[in-house]
Amino acid sequence: MTEGLRFVTLRSGEPVPALGQGTWHMGENRRRAAEEAAALRLGIDLGMTLIDTAEMYGSGGAEEVVARAADGIRDGLFIVSKVYPHNASSAGVVAACERSLKRLATDRIDLYLLHWRGSMPLAETLEGFQRLERDGKIRHHGVSNFDRADMAEWEALQGGGTVAADQVLYNLGRRGPEWDLVPWCREHQVAITAYTPLGTGGMLANAALGEIARRRGATPAQIALAWLLRQEGTIVIPKASRPEHVGENRGALDVSLTEEDLTALDRAFPPPRGQSSLGML
Ligand SMILES: NC(=O)c1ccc[n+]([C@@H]2O[C@H](COP(=O)([O-])OP(=O)(O)OC[C@H]3O[C@@H](n4cnc5c(N)ncnc54)[C@H](OP(=O)(O)O)[C@@H]3O)[C@@H](O)[C@H]2O)c1
Repeated sequence: MTEGLRFVTLRSGEPVPALGQGTWHMGENRRRAAEEAAALRLGIDLGMTLIDTAEMYGSGGAEEVVARAADGIRDGLFIVSKVYPHNASSAGVVAACERSLKRLATDRIDLYLLHWRGSMPLAETLEGFQRLERDGKIRHHGVSNFDRADMAEWEALQGGGTVAADQVLYNLGRRGPEWDLVPWCREHQVAITAYTPLGTGGMLANAALGEIARRRGATPAQIALAWLLRQEGTIVIPKASRPEHVGENRGALDVSLTEEDLTALDRAFPPPRGQSSLGML
């Protein structure tokens, strides 16, 4: 189902789906693996073909769930995975990627990210990414949980100007990236991937969100996702293991927010004022 899908163009010129699927907490329990893979497959069938995972999730179990969902349809997917900072030396990145490829049952990862900044020099990690790219084991590289200063540091490395994406905590209730990171990424054509787009805690129970959802004939989750999806260069990766959630999230692509809705959302969830603040889960 490709109707109504939206795409984000990476700085390499390649379009990728704006609405994908997350996998955190999948693959933690073998008995649930089949239903988790089925939920991902449903999302894929609905056009959410960008799948985000990490070596960390379920200690590799989530990558195995992704492999199950991708069985027979790998070429139609854009798979994102992440390396732990403690594995991010130039040799460590390569070894971690080989392990991920095995669990993912594939020969390449489409976008490989440094999960967060640790003590390893960034130049070492980039060297590992470049080697993997030369060997065809990853197609693009990027980072996660990097603030604006981290991004500028990475970009200034020799060969750093090909970083494709920064994956950060960004939702209606956590708008910190808008202060200086989002403008920087737009200027440099680095895609922002918004993680935890549905928020944690009570965000979806907010009264203003509920009112807008009623007006649009949508659900609060769809409004929260539509608000992110309307922003240029932003990839959104909700995680859903229940099929009803998967279908609902896909429906966010059909929701158009009006100026009135956006003003009401700004009142309920004010944009950041005054300084950079990037949260992390
Ligand atoms: N780079 C990083 O450091 C980082 C950190 C956190 C997350 N991530 C990535 O971002 C993805 C998404 O973030 P997240 O998993 O933290 O949070 P999220 O996608 O905002 O929320 C997931 C939770 O919301 C529920 N849900 C899904 N669709 C819903 C709907 N339509 N209505 C109501 N509830 C719904 C899910 O339930 P069910 O599963 O029961 O359907 C699950 O409990 C992760 O899975 C991961 O891939 C990256």
